[in-house]
Amino acid sequence: MSKAVSLVLDISAGSCLWDVFKMENEVTTLMANYGRAEIQFSRGEGAYLYTADEEQYLDALSGIAVCSLGHANPEVGAAISKQAMTLLHTSNLYRIKLQENLSDRLTNIAGMENAFFCNSGAEANEAAIKIARKYGHTKGIACPSIVTMNGSFHGRTMATLSATGNSKVHEGFEPLVSGFKHVNYNDIEVVADALQDSECVAVMVEPIQGEGGVVVPNDNYLRDLRRLCDVKDALLIVDEVQSGIGRTGEWFAYQHEDILPDVVTSAKALGNGVPIGACLARGIAATILSPGTHGSTFGGNPLACSAALAVLDVVSEENLLDRSRLLGKFFLTAFQKKLASRDEVLEVRGKGLMVGIELDRPCGELVKSCSANGVLINVAAQNVVRLLPPLIISDDQATEIVEKVSASIFDFLD
Ligand SMILES: Cc1ncc(COP(=O)(O)O)c(C=O)c1O
Repeated sequence: MSKAVSLVLDISAGSCLWDVFKMENEVTTLMANYGRAEIQFSRGEGAYLYTADEEQYLDALSGIAVCSLGHANPEVGAAISKQAMTLLHTSNLYRIKLQENLSDRLTNIAGMENAFFCNSGAEANEAAIKIARKYGHTKGIACPSIVTMNGSFHGRTMATLSATGNSKVHEGFEPLVSGFKHVNYNDIEVVADALQDSECVAVMVEPIQGEGGVVVPNDNYLRDLRRLCDVKDALLIVDEVQSGIGRTGEWFAYQHEDILPDVVTSAKALGNGVPIGACLARGIAATILSPGTHGSTFGGNPLACSAALAVLDVVSEENLLDRSRLLGKFFLTAFQKKLASRDEVLEVRGKGLMVGIELDRPCGELVKSCSANGVLINVAAQNVVRLLPPLIISDDQATEIVEKVSASIFDFLD
């Protein structure tokens, strides 16, 4: 195995396994933290990406759940063009009307009370972790801890990688940030046990584990976590960085269970490609941060907020929550039917447009073969084909994804 390929496999364990392609003989001045594909896109339109030679690819990954409204979305494009010619940035030393508007819209959608804006999912989770720790200190707990899940992914900063329940993400970066207790996902008893510890002040959870392999917990899992947190006065932090902004057929995936977390984190699709993250809170969690305790130079600047406001408008106006639910059902049924004859396909699962196809073996090669068939996909947790197509795809494009991905899976298994 070449050095480049083994690096790709190593770093993807996290798992941004966007590529079992390799960068052989390529010399760049970029740090070697990504195993990038050779392929390069020069423009996008809706669900399609194009190379400089106008080769067309159907994007069933949306830049890892980011470009949910498709590439070069006209409404988002118009909003950020206008804003770029008006005002990009002022800092959070001053009031920013667009940020306040976005906070109103998002908190209303999420059932939260206030918002802190930053630039990525990891930063949104950092804010949530700081809120939980400070909440602990207000209760007189000197070393507060947070329960997080095995198989989770919360980011690559030191605190969020420590929160992440995947030893491959930790490797080489020890000592980790202390104060995280990892327990099994989708097991309510282990959380109940962990919360017996009086220093546990919060539970942090993805409603569906994305990087962990599109793992959908049992119905009522979040409701049970809510109940446990209520009993123990612990904060329930729901990481909606991947699952939020309509991807699963609700604005936020916890809304399928009709509960309210104390803290919600969002990023990725919130800006459709313009970097923005948000940490939303309610109740006691909304009172924790005071002036000087947290901040971000760029967070919530007018440019990013104009993009996010346009995203919220388009999702509402084009009924994309309904569309995501409908397409999600189509994908599950179509893949289940297509792949039913193969015992090597262990499960087709998902919610809305977060779809996973679990095989009985590592299948990173499928990224390359699907791409050769003109469809961009991803493999998570080594053996789960992950599809995160844009919410704006047409019926025909959805059918094409099913046909081409199934054909590649058949070829791979034969
Ligand atoms: C659930 C979840 N949380 C947090 C993150 C980190 O987000 P970012 O890469 O924007 O820092 C990710 C990224 O994949 C994610 O899937």
